[in-house]
Amino acid sequence: MANKLELILHQNNYTLDPSTIHIWHIDLQLTDNDFHRLQDYLNPEEQQRLQRYTHQRAQQQFLATRGRLKQLLAGYTGIAPSDIQFETGQYGKPRLADTTIDDGLVFNVSHSGVMALIAISTNCALGIDIERINTRHNLQGMAQRCFSNQELSSWNQLTEPHKTTQFYEYWCAKEAFLKATGRGLALGMEHCVVDIEQPCFISLPESYQSSDWQLQCVDVGNNYRAFVAGNGDSVSIINKQFHQTSSSS
Ligand SMILES: CC(C)(COP(=O)(O)OP(=O)(O)OC[C@H]1O[C@@H](n2cnc3c(N)ncnc32)[C@H](O)[C@@H]1OP(=O)(O)O)[C@@H](O)C(=O)NCCC(=O)NCCS
Repeated sequence: MANKLELILHQNNYTLDPSTIHIWHIDLQLTDNDFHRLQDYLNPEEQQRLQRYTHQRAQQQFLATRGRLKQLLAGYTGIAPSDIQFETGQYGKPRLADTTIDDGLVFNVSHSGVMALIAISTNCALGIDIERINTRHNLQGMAQRCFSNQELSSWNQLTEPHKTTQFYEYWCAKEAFLKATGRGLALGMEHCVVDIEQPCFISLPESYQSSDWQLQCVDVGNNYRAFVAGNGDSVSIINKQFHQTSSSS
């Protein structure tokens, strides 16, 4: 399977080394032309979902992320963007149709504000999270619910603005792991304990072993924070900007 996959990847626009995670930075603001072009890639179910969004911003966020994801996966697989189909795991994590969970070409998506990140790798559980830094939330209450005692006591010693930015660092690191497992928030953020300086996982919920997982910070500028987590041999990350000309379509 790995050899076949490698062959397929090398035959198409994007080459993905097995020990690498590609992180695509996507601008969610679409021109009218992009909007119509990406809409053509959606299947009837995705078209219905698009129509259900009543706010233009949410509609644009879904279309830009799903459409760009299809364009990117087309570049890796050689399948046309409109023929890319997804299945979802028990807790809603999308994967390429007809693939086994965490096997073959894997991806995960996150969006916040006007940015999305799409992480792509092979043969691992992969999760990514981006958040726009927002001072309006009740960060103290959220930290009490989502941080371990150890994290909370070190975070409480910080002063602003470091306190706010580090809240989002913890949040993204934990959510990247929860998304990698596919289980999502229900697994319990407070049970996922992070050393944010390294960065690495100190302990994880249930039978997940922190030594099996890597955690890496993604540079997304001053107004956002982002982390990617994975359990494979994928240790090096390569950041890529999505430009329309990158597309294989
Ligand atoms: C996955 C989850 C963490 C998303 O959090 P979020 O910060 O709102 O959203 P993000 O932008 O980071 O990620 C959204 C993307 O993650 C992916 N995703 C969806 N469910 C996922 C899951 N269970 N695991 C990993 N990724 C998932 C999708 O690609 C989604 O993008 P799309 O909606 O455009 O298709 C959250 O919805 C969750 O925990 N879901 C699991 C089911 C569940 O427990 N729901 C109750 C929520 S309390």
